Amino acid sequence: LTDTARSALDRLTAVVPDFPSPGILFRDLTPVFSDAVAFRAVVDALAEPFAGTFDAVAGVEARGFLLAAAVAYATGTGVVTVRKAGKLPRAVHRESYDLEYGQAALEIHQSDLPAGTRVLVLDDVLATGGTLAAACALLERAEATVVGCAVVLELGALGGRQLLAGRTVRALDIV
Ligand code: PRP
Repeated sequence: LTDTARSALDRLTAVVPDFPSPGILFRDLTPVFSDAVAFRAVVDALAEPFAGTFDAVAGVEARGFLLAAAVAYATGTGVVTVRKAGKLPRAVHRESYDLEYGQAALEIHQSDLPAGTRVLVLDDVLATGGTLAAACALLERAEATVVGCAVVLELGALGGRQLLAGRTVRALDIV
């Protein structure tokens, strides 16, 4: 992690108590995204360890879209949207999962990627791991090869890596 990315995360990540529900300490990265230097540093740091290993980037709705689009553009790759259920118009794969707070389902189009496409999966935060595990499972059902997952922030105490055992998972920051 570069000094620029490190100091940007320390300086700009907003810690919000009791959001979205009582007892949840929410780490809001929107100030990191809205700072030009910080955003570039974070995007570059996410992509750098995986340079040359992927043909497409998958972003998880919603904040993962921002990161995935930027990494795809910077690396000359395509971008795939992993969406909340009900948003995609064509035939989908669907996976339900548990969140830190609640339950949800994710979907991808069955035919957005040629079989064998090497995909890097991006999101802002790794918490319980349910979201990324579901995203990886979906991509593999679509016959993509998941080369790894990268997030800006990992909430280590929630043990999300257990759901991602055997996968390459990189976090720029762990709290
Ligand atoms: C947050 C975050 C990750 C996910 C991590 O998304 O952006 O996608 O939770 O949680 P997990 O590791 O416990 O699965 P959220 O569901 O709040 O969706 P949003 O980005 O659309 O607000």
